[in-house]
Amino acid sequence: MRFLDLAAKRASIRSYEPTPVPTELVDQVLEAGRLAPSACNRQPWHFLVLTEAESRKRLAEAYSKDWCLNAPVIILVCVETAKAWTRRDGVNYAWVDGAIAMDHMTLCATDLGLGTCWIGAFQNDKLREALQLPQGIEVVAFTPMGFPKEAGAPKNRVPLELIVHRERW
Ligand SMILES: Cc1cc2nc3c(=O)[nH]c(=O)nc-3n(C[C@H](O)[C@H](O)[C@H](O)COP(=O)(O)O)c2cc1C
Repeated sequence: MRFLDLAAKRASIRSYEPTPVPTELVDQVLEAGRLAPSACNRQPWHFLVLTEAESRKRLAEAYSKDWCLNAPVIILVCVETAKAWTRRDGVNYAWVDGAIAMDHMTLCATDLGLGTCWIGAFQNDKLREALQLPQGIEVVAFTPMGFPKEAGAPKNRVPLELIVHRERW
């Protein structure tokens, strides 16, 4: 698939078939995350994969939407901020790196016929506790993943004329 077609096809999917996702497909999605670029190639990410019903249920304390919890796979993109590159003015790039990895994964999943949906609206303290995350590890986002039961919504984006600035703002 051409890249622009893939980018247009990726959509937030909020309903999944219960069919398990073959491990080979999950591994390909994780590999897409691993191949992502990162500032100074620090690769500060960790990918936490939940497939067991009990693990997915634990997430309910931090994010209670059934459509997400019932997906056969949930992947969390975590970052180790101390490992990430920090710019001279103190800006740490861990979250940028983690977001790129997540984007690679959601696009790869789309290419494989799988649905995903970025989730950022979780309760962070509850999530940390539910999954017993170590100190220094932050969750950038997570995504349910499975075979989609619905088509995504049509793309609603502002036109290029409003967001592209050439030579100067
Ligand atoms: C960083 C980020 C956080 C998001 N958090 C949530 C979320 O918590 N819950 C949700 O249902 N969708 C979430 N989304 C999905 C967006 O609502 C969705 O990407 C946007 O409306 C565009 O739709 P599309 O993904 O179908 O193109 C998030 C997306 C991003 C990029």
